[in-house]
Amino acid sequence: MPKDSLTITDNRTGQSYEVPIENGTIKAIDLRKIKTDEKDFGLMTYDPAYTNTASCKSRVTYIDGDAGILNYRGYPIEQLAEQGTFLDTAYLLLNGELPSQAQATEWTYDITHHTMVHENIKELLDGFRYDAHPMGMLMSTVAALSTFYPEAKDVRDKATRRTQILRLIAKIPTLAAFSYRHLMGLPYAYPDNDLGYCANFLQMMFRMARGYQPSPVLERALEVLFILHADHEQNCSTSAMRGVGSSEADPYSSTAAAIAALYGPLHGGANEMVLRMLKEIGSKDAIPAFIREVKTSGGEVRLMGFGHRVYKNYDPRAKIIKRMADQVFEVTGRNPLLDIALELERIALEDEYFVKRKLYPNVDFYSGLIYQAMGFPVDMFPVLFAIPRTAGWLAQWEEMLEDKDQKIARPRQVYLGAARRDYVPLASRG
Ligand code: CMC
Repeated sequence: MPKDSLTITDNRTGQSYEVPIENGTIKAIDLRKIKTDEKDFGLMTYDPAYTNTASCKSRVTYIDGDAGILNYRGYPIEQLAEQGTFLDTAYLLLNGELPSQAQATEWTYDITHHTMVHENIKELLDGFRYDAHPMGMLMSTVAALSTFYPEAKDVRDKATRRTQILRLIAKIPTLAAFSYRHLMGLPYAYPDNDLGYCANFLQMMFRMARGYQPSPVLERALEVLFILHADHEQNCSTSAMRGVGSSEADPYSSTAAAIAALYGPLHGGANEMVLRMLKEIGSKDAIPAFIREVKTSGGEVRLMGFGHRVYKNYDPRAKIIKRMADQVFEVTGRNPLLDIALELERIALEDEYFVKRKLYPNVDFYSGLIYQAMGFPVDMFPVLFAIPRTAGWLAQWEEMLEDKDQKIARPRQVYLGAARRDYVPLASRG
């Protein structure tokens, strides 16, 4: 009769231990009983970058990286992108179910009526240099919100949490658009409560002196991009959100930390780097030389927008974005960098280096081309990632707070530094 357990023999002592297996995992803490003697601390696992460690049990997002499957709360990403709205998706992530019609109406009303930010935020933004990166401004203004809503510290109170969740999802497009307007030296455009989530964001970004009418195709494209970016289980920024949140920091501070993690070029900053890379390559003729450089650089030069820790197959989000690009380009005109991207993908997918390492286009490979065609400057790309991901971060943060297994995040280390030694006064140091 097979047993759900693991028998480990410690060859240092010859002793055997039985460790239970649950959900395909063993508890790392169960290894601590494996000791060479009473004084021994006990066995730990060493897993830099958490490549094989589950940090939580989650019911939010499911990814099968080998099959290229992504589901939010069980719903395939393709169906949500085809039929859903961003706000319904955010509700789903946070509540576990799609909203009923009445719940959707109330949810949309609540989000719409929290879109304004305190006027002092404008003064804060005015303090930034004229060319400040909007991601830095977003991170700072989100962190600043914690000072406007000190009650947010009460993270153990569900009702208080709900208010901050509404505020964050509602205000993040306003902060993002204000950051852009500062960068452009334009007056801030206030939210318009008559518009939907994406249309309102577009008008706060691009409205000039006259009324602004976003193209329905572009509005829908943004909606789909927001759905695709809304969550992605335990990635770097979500782990930052959960890690900081585990100290019971308020959700604005935790979200600012998540934005900081997302900013990096290996994570949400990759969409920006893809565009810069395509521009630098410049023409299809230059692609073979670039690919050669990637392959011989020992990992230093990367094909941005390719590869993923979890997907060892085509990222399902990239497939949807690639298809959508044609619809967007019909309205905006074709982005000339698309031809370079398509050729780069074709060559890479036939090249043994990429095939062997299972490197496929990820979500960032084509999204930037669409954002650029829609008129967003490259600096705004990671910001466009952060807006919808806020819903996912908050869903994961709530799940963490309600999870009885969770405590303050505090990994162990393997200390390999100097042994104890005595302080040497400066005069005696030679
Ligand atoms: N170009 C060239 N080589 C690559 C790339 C790439 N984009 N990605 C991975 N490799 C190579 C890497 O050099 C290594 O080779 P070797 O085995 O010879 O040392 C091998 O593939 C495995 O790579 P890794 O760095 O160990 O893989 P990882 O799981 O730690 O990294 C990644 C995942 C996404 C950071 C990485 O693939 C990468 O840097 N990609 C480019 C940046 C990018 O597009 N990031 C966006 C990720 S999707 C959006 C998001 O959720 O953030």
